Amino acid sequence: MTHIRSESAIDYDAVRYLNTAAFETDAEAGLVDALRDQCESIISLVAEKDDLLAGHILFSPVTLPGHNHLKILGLAPMAVLPDFQRQGIGSELVTAGLNICREQGWDAVVVLGYPEFYPRFGFVPASQFKIGCEYDVPDEVFMLVELNTGALDGCWGTVNYHSAFADL
Ligand SMILES: CC(C)(COP(=O)(O)OP(=O)(O)OC[C@H]1O[C@@H](n2cnc3c(N)ncnc32)[C@H](O)[C@@H]1OP(=O)(O)O)[C@@H](O)C(=O)NCCC(=O)NCCS
Repeated sequence: MTHIRSESAIDYDAVRYLNTAAFETDAEAGLVDALRDQCESIISLVAEKDDLLAGHILFSPVTLPGHNHLKILGLAPMAVLPDFQRQGIGSELVTAGLNICREQGWDAVVVLGYPEFYPRFGFVPASQFKIGCEYDVPDEVFMLVELNTGALDGCWGTVNYHSAFADL
């Protein structure tokens, strides 16, 4: 059984460990620390499996210049311990995370990630909304899901991530 819950301070070391284990360097672990310190509103969830912290997901605010009324989050980073990958934990984290984003009234979530994975949760290429990414990435890897239907009508431009992402 996987249990998804909000991260708390006692989880910080385990979250650092699992991000370092899942990625090639500790840059993502550092990014999590920076976003926790520097963002006013983040959503940070952990997945417990067999009394172990096996997964983590973070959402932090991004901006669409000229449309400051929009509440948009970026999903990043997300990590599952290597021995626990491809068992559905990442999917549970995304599903739980998006439900919380919706409950909190966020308009949309963007993600830079595997185009085979995120469409399962309603993400489509952000270009369908005429929304691009500040990073030079292939069209299909920058995706968006609108949580508040119609919120993005008439809004287009380039999404900017928090400055901490520049250190990745
Ligand atoms: C990406 C990640 C968080 C997914 O978590 P998970 O628990 O393995 O995901 P699930 O079991 O729910 O779903 C598996 C799906 O993830 C995608 N996926 C996972 N690893 C992948 C990889 N290396 N390449 C491409 N797609 C991958 C696939 O779509 C896969 O579906 P499939 O098994 O049908 O092929 C996890 O694999 C991970 O931590 N990877 C290393 C860190 C990373 O790349 N994070 C994402 C970028 S922020």
